[in-house]
Amino acid sequence: MKMYRLALIGFGNVGQGFVQILRDYGETITTETGASFRIVAICDALKGSIYQPEGYDPAELLDVVQKNGKLESLPAKARNMDAIQTIVVSNADVVVEMSFTDLKTGQPAIQYVDAAIKNKKHVVTTNKGPAALAYQELAEQARLYGVKFGVEGTVMSGTPALGLATQLLQGAGINKIQGILNGTTNYMLTKMAEGASYEDVLQEAQSLGYAEADPSGDVEGHDAAGKVVILAAMLMDAEIKLSDIDLEGITKITPADIELAAQHNEKWKLIGALEKKDGQIFASVKPTRVPLSHPLAGVDGATNAITYSTDLLGDVTLIGAGAGRMETGFAVLGDLLGIHRTLQ
Ligand code: HSE
Repeated sequence: MKMYRLALIGFGNVGQGFVQILRDYGETITTETGASFRIVAICDALKGSIYQPEGYDPAELLDVVQKNGKLESLPAKARNMDAIQTIVVSNADVVVEMSFTDLKTGQPAIQYVDAAIKNKKHVVTTNKGPAALAYQELAEQARLYGVKFGVEGTVMSGTPALGLATQLLQGAGINKIQGILNGTTNYMLTKMAEGASYEDVLQEAQSLGYAEADPSGDVEGHDAAGKVVILAAMLMDAEIKLSDIDLEGITKITPADIELAAQHNEKWKLIGALEKKDGQIFASVKPTRVPLSHPLAGVDGATNAITYSTDLLGDVTLIGAGAGRMETGFAVLGDLLGIHRTLQ
């Protein structure tokens, strides 16, 4: 059995979802994989910062934070360390970076990932900022410092869209990628097609924990665009910027548009796409009318889907969760177990 000490940077929905997984499935995971995980530090801008080298009981962490909204009543050898101190000073082997996403600067998350790598700690992030804006540099640094850098949760939450492509489709020659990459907008379009209003379904998506803190990132397509950039960097070795993407969100879709699509046996989907053509990469995020007979038309609610078109295997489609607390928490576990497999 190998034990990994974790420092959590950010303890919002995703962090709590991950800790819930450790609380409810930790023993089974250890029995099945030989890996166990102990949280030794948490640093959250709102809930406080605690460090205890021997680690915390996941159930107690969740009880305290859900009751008080703060971590301060828990025992700690050190308190109030900022994120960088937590990364540098704690005895964590792996930093789990789950701070808020800023797709304009990638900060402060890029700094946190960078600090983890330079302190020779593996790092896993669910934050699209570092993955979309600095994936290639950070991955190269991680290689130089001999640590792992996991970003599975940045695209389709815990559904292994990146793992499938980077590991199992290696060599298949991915030439085109198309996907429903944003849970909030897919949920909204699904409910709007059933007659609900834009404002009501946006609120629902927020209360279900799918939407970003600032949901304009979802409805204007920036979140899906960030994922297209990550896919381009990881799977097509292409450094695309957000501004290179032909981008349109769902804000202009009206009930009349939805009705018209239905009359033609079609559904609106926000499709993120990447295509290699004549040595160039074309990237877009656009609301698209998809015929009901198309596989993506059946992907409803917050569910996401991705189709990899390959030279050797034709189309391979993966459908699964794209957002959510436990679903993204599972992505963290997936990356941690990926690290464990490579270290065995
Ligand atoms: N706001 C995002 C979504 C969360 O709705 O898909 C997952 O990246």
